[in-house]
Amino acid sequence: MEKPFHRRDLLGIRNLSADEIIGILKTAENFREISEREVKKVPTLRGKTVINLFFENSTRTKTSFELAAKRLSADAVNVSISTSSVTKGETLVDTALTLDAMSPDAIVVRHSSAGVPHQLAKISRAAVINAGDGTNEHPTQALLDAMTIREQKKEIAGLKVAILGDILHSRVARSNIQLLTKLGATVRVAGPKTLVPDAFEYLVEEGLIVTPSVEEAIEGTDVVMILRIQKERQDSAFFPTLSEYAIHYGLTQERLALAKKDAIVLHPGPMNRGIEIASDVADSSRSQILDQVKYGVTVRMAVLYLATGGKAVE
Ligand code: CP
Repeated sequence: MEKPFHRRDLLGIRNLSADEIIGILKTAENFREISEREVKKVPTLRGKTVINLFFENSTRTKTSFELAAKRLSADAVNVSISTSSVTKGETLVDTALTLDAMSPDAIVVRHSSAGVPHQLAKISRAAVINAGDGTNEHPTQALLDAMTIREQKKEIAGLKVAILGDILHSRVARSNIQLLTKLGATVRVAGPKTLVPDAFEYLVEEGLIVTPSVEEAIEGTDVVMILRIQKERQDSAFFPTLSEYAIHYGLTQERLALAKKDAIVLHPGPMNRGIEIASDVADSSRSQILDQVKYGVTVRMAVLYLATGGKAVE
């Protein structure tokens, strides 16, 4: 068996083995009870420094990385890009080298360009953690989604998972397809033809099924993951109007009824209520959306711990 997780950086799911993924998830499951204590703090990362470097907006990922660091007693620093020297023209590399000179143990980076975390990992002495790079990957989102699924379904192997909507622009979809197929799930994707890239065909051998309609994708599934329409990444019209999108591709109670009776609903957030997901689905007992947020803190505690030298649970 490979070691559970022995890397410095977490750049994506693509290069991780199933054993490494399970190692991170088991470590996160071990940390879960810390967030349920009255005093939500342990000394595990005392003396370590974590820098959050977010070039794109975020509520969930940024806050949960900060909370994760603080719950483990690390010093957490958020760099505000809009008030930083990036606005004076400082390059990405110079920004990274400047922060690295302050001896952080981990740099958590989100950027609109794919590959930025990989670039920083080459020049930084600190562990680099990808908090979302363009349309490429969002590894901690896929890990927290996997933790949420394991909490409800125990095993991921053998599950049928539908990933629906704006697949083309979704780093969440790319990381989840990698993770879920590596752990033995069957993944179906569906959405408007313009938003389901042919490039995903290479994953078909690994268990990915591209279905012609959202109804066929949902039929008999254990997990329905609905993606946000990423208007900020769409520079042309991929579908006629948002209301038509809601009619043809939105997750409604009627469509959800095609899934298994105990199927759960995931959405990475933020949601466009009434467009990709109906409010009565988002707020239903099937929805695990707030549990995803909760496990986001736990998974990020595990990732910070492992990236700064901690040993994964076997
Ligand atoms: N799911 C996610 O990445 O949300 P934020 O953009 O709020 O971090």
